[in-house]
Amino acid sequence: MLSVTYVSVADPLIGEEDIAVLVRQARKNNARDGLTGALIYNGHNFMQLLEGPADKVETCLAAIRADPRHSGMTEVRRREVDARDFAAWSMLYTPEFRGHDADLARLAAGAGLDPQDERMMTNFIALGRRHVES
Ligand SMILES: Cc1cc2nc3c(=O)[nH]c(=O)nc-3n(C[C@H](O)[C@H](O)[C@H](O)COP(=O)(O)O)c2cc1C
Repeated sequence: MLSVTYVSVADPLIGEEDIAVLVRQARKNNARDGLTGALIYNGHNFMQLLEGPADKVETCLAAIRADPRHSGMTEVRRREVDARDFAAWSMLYTPEFRGHDADLARLAAGAGLDPQDERMMTNFIALGRRHVES
């Protein structure tokens, strides 16, 4: 299996409702394609981890790359994995930005999450928090 994490810049006009639509669409497709992962939106950027059969991950990434709801997609980690980080989630997402911390902490405590993936996501959340609260 393949696991890919990227960051991108969200369309500045995008709102929570648009993201809810996006997440519903992602969950439906991912359930069909055997993909799992997590999406974080920090008010400016997305970070997404997508994992599953390599061909399905690549096809999905190509679709995501062409999506006008964001731009500047840059991979920050790509690796072969034996086990999934987010096996139980077709796409983990919580609209409360702060809620992500609790989700990740709970996952890490359950030993389901790769330590480097956890650090990347936790750091990304912290980066966004400075913007949101300043
Ligand atoms: C930040 C972001 C993350 C996305 N994540 C997924 C995803 O995990 N799975 C997915 O199928 N589509 C995802 N999409 C949507 C795709 O870009 C594309 O719109 C969708 O796959 C097309 O689905 P359809 O063929 O059912 O119309 C994402 C889009 C964005 C902007």
